[in-house]
Amino acid sequence: MKRIILLFAVAVLYGCAGNTPVYLDTRKPVERRVEDALSRMTLEEKVAVLHAQSRFSSAGVPRLGIPELWFTDGPHGVRAEVLWDSWKRAGWTNDSCTAYPALSALAATWNPDLALLYGECLGEEARYRNKHVLLGPGCNICRTPLCGRNFEYMGEDPVLSSSMVVPYIKGVQSKGVAACVKHFALNNQETNRHTTNVIVSDRALNEIYLPAFKAAVQDAGVWAVMGSYNLYLNQHCCHNSRMTEILKDEWGFDGVLVSDWGGTHNTLQAIENGLDMEFGTKTDGLASQTDNEYQNYHLAAPYLDMLRQGKTSELILNEKVRRILRLNMRTAMSHQKSFGKFVCPEHSEAARRIGAESIVLLKNEDGILPLENAGHILVVGENAVRSMTDNGGSSALKAKYEISPLDGLKSALPGAEIEYVQAWSSKGELDLAPALEAAKRADIVVFVAGLNKEKYQDAESYDRKSFDLPYSQNSLISSLAKINSKIIVVNISGNPVAMPWENEVKAIVQSWYLGSEAGNSLADVLTGKVNPSGKLPFTIPVCLEDGPLSSAEQYPGIPRENPVGPDTIWDEYYKEDIYVGYRWYEKTGTKPRFAFGYGLSYTDFNISDARLKGRTLTCRLTNTGDREGSEVIQLYMTLPGNDRPLKELKDFRKVTLAPGDSALLNFEIPDEYLMQYGETGWTILQGDYFVHIGNSSDNISYSFTFKN
Ligand code: GLC
Repeated sequence: MKRIILLFAVAVLYGCAGNTPVYLDTRKPVERRVEDALSRMTLEEKVAVLHAQSRFSSAGVPRLGIPELWFTDGPHGVRAEVLWDSWKRAGWTNDSCTAYPALSALAATWNPDLALLYGECLGEEARYRNKHVLLGPGCNICRTPLCGRNFEYMGEDPVLSSSMVVPYIKGVQSKGVAACVKHFALNNQETNRHTTNVIVSDRALNEIYLPAFKAAVQDAGVWAVMGSYNLYLNQHCCHNSRMTEILKDEWGFDGVLVSDWGGTHNTLQAIENGLDMEFGTKTDGLASQTDNEYQNYHLAAPYLDMLRQGKTSELILNEKVRRILRLNMRTAMSHQKSFGKFVCPEHSEAARRIGAESIVLLKNEDGILPLENAGHILVVGENAVRSMTDNGGSSALKAKYEISPLDGLKSALPGAEIEYVQAWSSKGELDLAPALEAAKRADIVVFVAGLNKEKYQDAESYDRKSFDLPYSQNSLISSLAKINSKIIVVNISGNPVAMPWENEVKAIVQSWYLGSEAGNSLADVLTGKVNPSGKLPFTIPVCLEDGPLSSAEQYPGIPRENPVGPDTIWDEYYKEDIYVGYRWYEKTGTKPRFAFGYGLSYTDFNISDARLKGRTLTCRLTNTGDREGSEVIQLYMTLPGNDRPLKELKDFRKVTLAPGDSALLNFEIPDEYLMQYGETGWTILQGDYFVHIGNSSDNISYSFTFKN
């Protein structure tokens, strides 16, 4: 009897399977499913899936049961729902999120394992919210400390950015959600972001600005790439023949090229230069918009008309649709995606851990940190209480909760007498007297400084106008330091800032926009619960003038017309070439205030017994202090040639050691590390190569040389 039942069940199943169209049969290979679905679609259905149907979604094929695709910002958490055809929040009650630390913070951890954890948690929340494409990570290189969106990116070095972007993407996509790496490419400023035409050498393009995107495609297998607003070779990057050739032909990208919101400007280029999906046209990507323009998008009615008139080949259309169907079958139509998770203790713990590990201890005179015993602590500054999860542009979040630095300190030091004085405010008021009075009677002053993601203070669409801290913070810090020498400055920013008071204060902590768990992460480090191990992902120069951008041609660019109109193209020349960040400061011998890769610990480490045998470098790292800690060993190289940086980061390893413990580290040096981009493309020169090992770009313990 059992046998009969089993046979009957198999027959039924087979019968069902037999009737399931290939494109819906999740057991069939994706490519077969794609081709089957494509073969069933009409011309109108093919065009319909190419462009937005709402602010953040694209149409499916209802007749075939192919679902629509939902996109969401952003890189640090899942954005709140907006109305169908608006930037305005929809007012839902179940669309808050865990706000994770900004990606500049993630980069400062120098810990790829945390990038994977970050992506996994974020992917789970995107799944929970039924999103198919997460519009992140951003990995544009920090070329100028004035760029308003550096807080969303991963610093000034291509190897650090690449190393952190890959696990993040793998984490997100492991949950059945596509990551969408952005903004491809050369989007290194916000000023004139829609009209800046970047002129850059192939060498700088390939050695500095493209590696993180290439790693996203070739090492992480990213499923979507977002074109950038700016132009390159006089074409907008959302439909740029050279950029598409690099992305799809040279790198083998098989996913979807999505426009930035409002980044599509030319129908023929959009068709012929590889744009696959168009979003946000007739908006500026942030606030302004024209209502319900979806049928007038370049890849909508205008495209359909051209197809019907035989003015463009359906073969090009099919290639776009293939990529979109592939994206759909990797996400919405995948049977392997997880159920996702909403805000939960695991996500909070991850945010707190990433935040704490991102914090960089820059100065700690007399061991004033950690704040071991309680006493009377004066906390000063608006940034001690201000929410930092909302604001800043498209990465703004509706966090389920947010712990402020002041709250974090209060809950971490219940026995302390913690007094708070705002003193400075983004509203412009400066109320010195109470702060100075309070400083007289405090044991320690914690000044929470920084930017705040308002316009011109680390915000999308608004580059900073000054390298200085705003709202008279510098003078206030100096005044307080004269009254109480035991002053600690915690700087919260996504960019380097001027620190003229460096020698007037006992301790300096570079913190970041740390999201929901900000106050707990910061308190964990300030109280010593977590030993700081962050390293700077960018150089902090003494002043802007020490940097490589010394002419309007280099930044913000030169307008082509005069007078300047709304559509004036600005030509910007990356004349510094590959000398970005520490590469520049070392070339010019200009000592920065704090170097790329720098960061202190509450314990001490020693690098010893280093040796280079062939292409293998080994060294021993020992924790010579009295508490557990983590150190980042960095491997730099000097390549032969008469126009090469003094050194370039090639590899790094983060190691955690108990007091007295040591570890033997192995670094292999593959040919890839020897490559440089020359007239004929990537090449390995004959000559002398130097290998440097240390714990910061400006603190090298050993150097070796070998001939190749
Ligand atoms: C914005 C940003 C982009 C964002 C998109 C959707 O203007 O440039 O990063 O993902 O539009 O909000």
